[in-house]
Amino acid sequence: RKGGFEHFMLKEIFEQPDVFQQSFRLANGHNSTSMLLRRARGISVIACGTSYNASLLFRYFAEKECGVPVRVDLASEYRYLSTPEDEVVIAVSQSGETADTLSALKKAKDSNCQTIAITNVQGSSITRIADHTIYTGAGPEMSVAATKSYIAQVAAFSGLLAGMSCSDTSSVECSVRQAIEESLLTDVSEAVSLCSKVSTLFYVGRGIFYPVALEGALKMKEISYIHAEGYAAGEIKHGPFALLSKETPAVAVCLPGDGYQSMLANLREMKARGTPLIGIGYGDDIDLKEVADVCIPVPKGDAYAQVAAVTVVMQRIAYYTALALGRDIDKPRNLAKSVTVE
Ligand code: F6R
Repeated sequence: RKGGFEHFMLKEIFEQPDVFQQSFRLANGHNSTSMLLRRARGISVIACGTSYNASLLFRYFAEKECGVPVRVDLASEYRYLSTPEDEVVIAVSQSGETADTLSALKKAKDSNCQTIAITNVQGSSITRIADHTIYTGAGPEMSVAATKSYIAQVAAFSGLLAGMSCSDTSSVECSVRQAIEESLLTDVSEAVSLCSKVSTLFYVGRGIFYPVALEGALKMKEISYIHAEGYAAGEIKHGPFALLSKETPAVAVCLPGDGYQSMLANLREMKARGTPLIGIGYGDDIDLKEVADVCIPVPKGDAYAQVAAVTVVMQRIAYYTALALGRDIDKPRNLAKSVTVE
């Protein structure tokens, strides 16, 4: 069942080129939902864990590509916050059974919001509550750690944005597939040997790479049990500086685009405080090479391809670190595939 892979997680990581394509197409076909979003007076997204990280990413893309403000809330906090009427609320849940997400969605419905579910499981509870459902095409995910279901959510969001005709995404499918395929083969061994020797790690990024850093840190902590904290790179100086030393490496995403120079400046500040840096960026970036101790190249491409490539590299760093530490990768301690209690 693992198709020759040692763990489901690795098998699922390798399925991602197809999963992105499938999920993008499924969401892109939802014309009525895209239209609903385009006409919305406000858009809110609610989710937990990895699904929340995918939702944060949607916010960056939607605001940049469509100029549509998007509010993103943790489903477990939503009950303590106001729910404006007439909003379109998107609830994102791979399993479709997460209790906090279901409660938040019910609250949105009670406030007369139009609701959309994005889920990977046909007929799951979330689909019975939401007005509209978009299925992601990831197929069953056996590993507790979400990998392909995250890429599927990112694809669904990009398919929806394409449907809203905010950007020309005709080349996205192809560029993302190439980026994922290439990143499945990148050598991550130096990063793994650094990570597997420490007890704390930072993951930093700016802009679209901030939510990607959050997701990278989540993956690392849940399967390797190493304390990994995702941070917006600009925030590191507002507290975490006190923790920086040669014992606290950082995985840093530094790709040309918005915030690139600021990111380099943040990395120099961290380096000056002793932090070993694992830089994820372009292979020919001499500025990054100068500041980073280890450089992991990702292929050049559009923003979606960059996100997908960095995600895959981070998933593989987490996987091989957990493997080196002998962890129970597909079934990490204390975790379940769906969290059905609040
Ligand atoms: C992390 C992970 C969890 C889930 C979270 C929400 O790898 O799997 O953080 O993302 O429990 O689950 P769903 O998406 O099923 O609502």
